[in-house]
Amino acid sequence: MDESKESISLPVSHPDEPSIRVVLLPRDTNSQGTIFGGIILSYIDLAGAVEVGKTTRQKVVTVGIKEVSFKAPVFVGEVVSFYTTTTKVGNTSVTVHVDVEVWRNQESIHVTEADLTFVSVDENGHPTPVVASSKRINRSKNKSR
Ligand SMILES: CC(C)(COP(=O)(O)OP(=O)(O)OC[C@H]1O[C@@H](n2cnc3c(N)ncnc32)[C@H](O)[C@@H]1OP(=O)(O)O)[C@@H](O)C(=O)NCCC(=O)NCCS
Repeated sequence: MDESKESISLPVSHPDEPSIRVVLLPRDTNSQGTIFGGIILSYIDLAGAVEVGKTTRQKVVTVGIKEVSFKAPVFVGEVVSFYTTTTKVGNTSVTVHVDVEVWRNQESIHVTEADLTFVSVDENGHPTPVVASSKRINRSKNKSR
């Protein structure tokens, strides 16, 4: 095998591909030199929206982000993966769990997780029932993770 290719391969710690994978830059840091939490949060929001797109193609807005837990810092240059699962499809809302992981020292580190709710809205910005291609609920929320 070509060793240069082997050195950039990433682990498969999750059964699915991440909704987003990014490398963060010095411009994304806080005063400590680690990645600013708001940057991670914005990618969590984006990854959640990507996940909702698997359920419905309707326009959605973020109504709530809860239980954001920053468990470990993220450093400049690390590859950050945002894994998503749909946990609930309601009447007008879709709730998504996001797990954020980095590959560091030959292991996958779970750095952040969050639960987000999106609401399907009509052209006037009012909630409208979710028209789902299917009721995609592929993960019961696991509090112990
Ligand atoms: C999203 C918005 C249209 C919802 O309007 P609303 O009148 O509050 O909606 P409702 O009270 O009818 O709730 C709609 C759904 O959202 C859910 N919901 C409302 N607030 C919630 C919250 N804080 N967390 C989780 N779910 C919430 C309700 O349970 C309901 O779900 P269901 O229909 O599946 O049962 C409105 O709040 C809004 O425009 N917010 C701004 C959104 C935005 O701009 N986001 C970008 C970031 S600033």
